[in-house]
Parts: sequence; C-alpha cells; structure tokens
Amino acid sequence: MPFQEVVEAEGHLIDSHIMENIFDKVVEHGGRFEVEQFSIGRTNSEPSHLRLKVSVEEESSLERLLEALLELGCAPVDATDAVLREVERDRCAPEDFYSSTNHHTFVRNGNKWVEVADQRMDAMIVVREGQAWCRRLRDLRRGDRIVVGLRGIRVVPESKERGRLAFAFMANGISSERQVDTAVRQTAALVRQTVEQKLKVVVVAGPVVVHTGGVKGLSSLVRGRWVHAVLSGNALGVHDIEASLFGTSLGVRLSDGRQEEHGHRNHMRAINAVYRAGSVTEAVRSGRLQSGILYECVQAGVPFVLAGSLRDDGPLPDTITDMNAAQDAYAAELKGAGLVLCLGSMLHSIATGNMLPSWVRIVCVDINPAVATKVSDRGTGQAVGVVTDVGLFLQLLSKAMV
Ligand SMILES: NC(=O)c1ccc[n+]([C@@H]2O[C@H](COP(=O)([O-])OP(=O)(O)OC[C@H]3O[C@@H](n4cnc5c(N)ncnc54)[C@H](O)[C@@H]3O)[C@@H](O)[C@H]2O)c1
Repeated sequence: MPFQEVVEAEGHLIDSHIMENIFDKVVEHGGRFEVEQFSIGRTNSEPSHLRLKVSVEEESSLERLLEALLELGCAPVDATDAVLREVERDRCAPEDFYSSTNHHTFVRNGNKWVEVADQRMDAMIVVREGQAWCRRLRDLRRGDRIVVGLRGIRVVPESKERGRLAFAFMANGISSERQVDTAVRQTAALVRQTVEQKLKVVVVAGPVVVHTGGVKGLSSLVRGRWVHAVLSGNALGVHDIEASLFGTSLGVRLSDGRQEEHGHRNHMRAINAVYRAGSVTEAVRSGRLQSGILYECVQAGVPFVLAGSLRDDGPLPDTITDMNAAQDAYAAELKGAGLVLCLGSMLHSIATGNMLPSWVRIVCVDINPAVATKVSDRGTGQAVGVVTDVGLFLQLLSKAMV
C-alpha cells in the first residue's frame, strides 16, 4: 500500500473506545494499520498515547481517512502550521476549507497550538493575529484567512469523564421509562452542579410541555432561578399564554382534558391579546398576563427566544421569523451554557444540538426514543435521552429542585 502516514492520538483512548474507533476507521477505508507505539495511561488521569502507521492504496482515500481520523483526535505527526487561505468573496470559502467538529480544536499558527474559540460543528476556522475562531459560512467576509486542508489541526474528542460516574445515566445513551426516577434525580444533580459551576442551564422546549401539564413544573424551575434561558418556538408561547388566559391548550381544558366549546378560538385569542399589549413583556407589565412560563421569565429577567417556523399561527410579535436572526439569538443565549435540557421538541432540540460544543451536557426528554437518537446521530454525541412524558418529567424535576 503506497500511500502512508504516521498519525498519533492521546487521551483516554481505551475506556472511551477511541482506539477501537480509530482501528475501525482504517479498516473501513480499506487501509492497513501498524501500531508503532502505544503507552497506556496507568492512573485515572494519565492519558494513553498511540502512534500508528496507516497505509492505503490511493492518495484520495488517504485524505479521506486522515479526515475521519482527525475527528477522533488522531492527527498526522508532522505538525506543520495549519494552511490558511484568504476568502475572496463574502460567504464563499475556498473549496478545500476545513469543516469543524463540535470537539475542542487547536490549530497550529506561528509554531504555536492555538485553541479555537466559539467551537461548533460545520463551521470554518478563521485565524487572525494568533487567534482562531469558528465562523459559519454565512459569516465569512472577504479577506478573512481560514484553515484549509487537514494539516496543523488537532481535535480532542470528549472522553468519558472518570470523575462523573455518579451520573451513570449519562453514559447509557437512552434511558427507558423504568428509569425515569433515576434520570430525574440525576438531572437535578446536574442542574445543581451546573449552577454551582456558574454555568447556565438552558431549557429548549416545545408546546407539548404545555399540552402535558408541564407549565407548573417549568414555571417553578424558572422562578427558582434554576433556568437561565428558555429557547423555543411560537407554539410554546401561544399555548402557554392560552393556558394562562383561558385555562386551555389548543382548546383542550387543562383541568379535565375536555375540549372546551369554541375552544379552538383560544389560541388565536391569546395571540390577539399579546398583539393588543404589544409584546409578551408588555402583556406581563400591563397585568394582562399573570402566570405561565413566559410570565415567570419576564418576572425573573430570564431571557426567552421564540424562533419562527412554517407552522406558526400569528405569530406572536415576539417570534423571530428571520431564521438567521433566530439562530443567532439561540446561539447568543447558549454561550456559557453548561447544561441544556431539551424538552419535547424535535425541531428545536436538533437545532440546538447543532450549535453546541461537545462538552456541554444535553439531556433530551421525549416520548419518542428516536428523537434522542437523532440528536446524537447528528454529531451531538453527548446527548442523553430520557424517554418519558415531558409533563411528568417536569413535575418530578421541579419537586426534586425544591
Ligand atoms: N400554532 C402554532 O403556531 C404552532 C403549533 C405547533 C407547532 N408550531 C411550531 O412548529 C415547530 C415544531 O413544533 P414542535 O417542536 O412541537 O414539533 P416537533 O415535531 O419538532 O417536536 C415535538 C416532539 O414532542 C414529542 N412528544 C410528543 N408528545 C410528548 C410527550 N407527551 N412527552 C414528551 N415528548 C412528547 C414528539 O415525540 C416530538 O419529538 C415549532 O417551531 C413550533 O413552535 C407552531
């Protein structure tokens, strides 16, 4: 096999299954590997080190293999500076741009390894005056110098945190109905730990939170200052306000689950009431809105973002219908997050997962196990799924936080 490269990786390679993945990748790409050196970390904290020669039949497969290995934290040994190329037109990258992962990344510039800021997946890396940032394609400007190719880049995938075995459910991927009590207890511990670390707890929620009676639980978490931002869509706002003003959610009485006569008008009446007030905040200030998730947010000064969608009624005046602006508003609130609770919204959970670096923990609560799997499969491997009714989950979680 004529095309060869020596690569190396360091970290908790064995118990985080990284080494196994590295070997699998070589085989998947039709290549061969030869371990040149391997030293195993002998204590909890000591990393293992692997040096591997890989060989393949064709030059193009070597490039593809190196790209796949890079995502696993396995980079070519000949550390030269990352190659930079200038952006010639706004929003247009050179064809061979490097596309980021959501893992900690370093680029070599001026013979120094520089940590990339604003880490997220599917971004380009802009380098300026010895500093590096992730930038989305649409944010690239003419004259920016971005990383191209695969040289001079190091990716550090998240490894199993050995000190975090108390949160065993985080290692299990998706927990079933039977483990809800445990999942709630451990989520509560994560919330407390995140607050102690002075990081943000961000809630991403869908309207099903209202339909399933989760308003009380989430409101109490906001009131208790356990939540530092709420990211959602138009529907949560509409149904939360409908529930507060008329006691229904999509016309169904929350008290007894029966359809209210002419209740189908209620969500439009809710939107109308907010338009009359001017905004959700004005509806609270004027006394029109006196309870609910958004009411608690306004009272506690907790920011909320409502992102628009094609399904929206109204939408509420607070709903951001420019999708780029809505993504920016989500990203701004996610800065400094340590824990994100995704509650019953496939759309908003996946969108949020795409924006987060891999070291921010995500607990994804949904009745459908496929949703947590989808969030993880899209590259957000740190997400753990709790398969249960979100109303019940919120009720238990708010009790656990008292
Ligand atoms: N009237 C409106 O304006 C209106 C109405 C509905 C949706 N929308 C908008 O459409 C977009 C998508 O809506 P979405 O996020 O609700 O849809 P979605 O399909 O992305 O997510 C809904 C999720 O809720 C889960 N779910 C259902 N019952 C559950 C339960 N009991 N417990 C836990 N999880 C449960 C489903 O499995 C699904 O994953 C949003 O932007 C929303 O604001 C607008």
